[in-house]
Amino acid sequence: MAAFNSEQVLSVRHWNDTLFSFKTTRDPGLRFHNGHFVMLGLEVEGKPLMRAYSIASANHEDNLEFFSIKVPNGPLTSRLQHLKPGDAVLVSRKPVGTLVADDLRPGRHLYLFATGTGLAPFLSIIKDPEVYDRFEKIVLMHGVRFVSELAYADYIRRELPQDEYLGEMVRDKLIYYPTVTREPYEHQGRLTTLVESGKLFDDIGLPPLDPAVDRAMICGSPAMLTDIRAMLDARGFVVSPGVGEPGDYVYERAFAEK
Ligand code: A2P
Repeated sequence: MAAFNSEQVLSVRHWNDTLFSFKTTRDPGLRFHNGHFVMLGLEVEGKPLMRAYSIASANHEDNLEFFSIKVPNGPLTSRLQHLKPGDAVLVSRKPVGTLVADDLRPGRHLYLFATGTGLAPFLSIIKDPEVYDRFEKIVLMHGVRFVSELAYADYIRRELPQDEYLGEMVRDKLIYYPTVTREPYEHQGRLTTLVESGKLFDDIGLPPLDPAVDRAMICGSPAMLTDIRAMLDARGFVVSPGVGEPGDYVYERAFAEK
């Protein structure tokens, strides 16, 4: 298991029947950029059973945090969902990924488009002081099917704005826009529909997407990535070609349809 660190589970939170989060210890040697992912898993019958997980904690925090779906009969998540404090999980030693703000050109507004557990890397990004230095507004859209899937909503609305170090920047710059597609809620509809209809911009008081001033990061299902990318491409946004090569938007290539 030399490629992996063994970390100890510190706490587990179940949001509903399908979603949960957990915190673990962090090896002091583990370095990462906010937005990176690791391979995470368990030793099963002497072998590592691993999946890609975005790190939901920020790189200045002492612990690691992960946000997971419970896949029905999923080989890993059917086990992970029973984690208890004190249990061990395996975490790859080299976090990687293309969903990093360093690969965005300078801009004024940063749009973070997330669906489902695609919120995870943005929980790291919205705790990154450099991101607040670089942008005037950060718009975090989280699209889910049901209200109970709006994990971290209270944290983003109530706790983060009171954070000792980040609170002032968050209150000034972060716009959180949760939206639900399959039951009534204050905001309804898919992210793509809300952007294309202009409803998002009416609601948040910003101008429609413009590649001259707006930048974006995308994380969600392969179908969602394809559709949001097409929407940005049609508006003239240029994708970052890869790590170290800036663009108007980035997405996690490891999570996209090949
Ligand atoms: P919908 O309920 O209309 O399918 P999922 O759990 O399937 O990943 O979906 C999470 C959220 O993302 C749901 O609100 C879903 O809307 C929405 N969604 C699914 N596919 C897309 C897509 N291609 N573009 C934008 N939003 C999507």
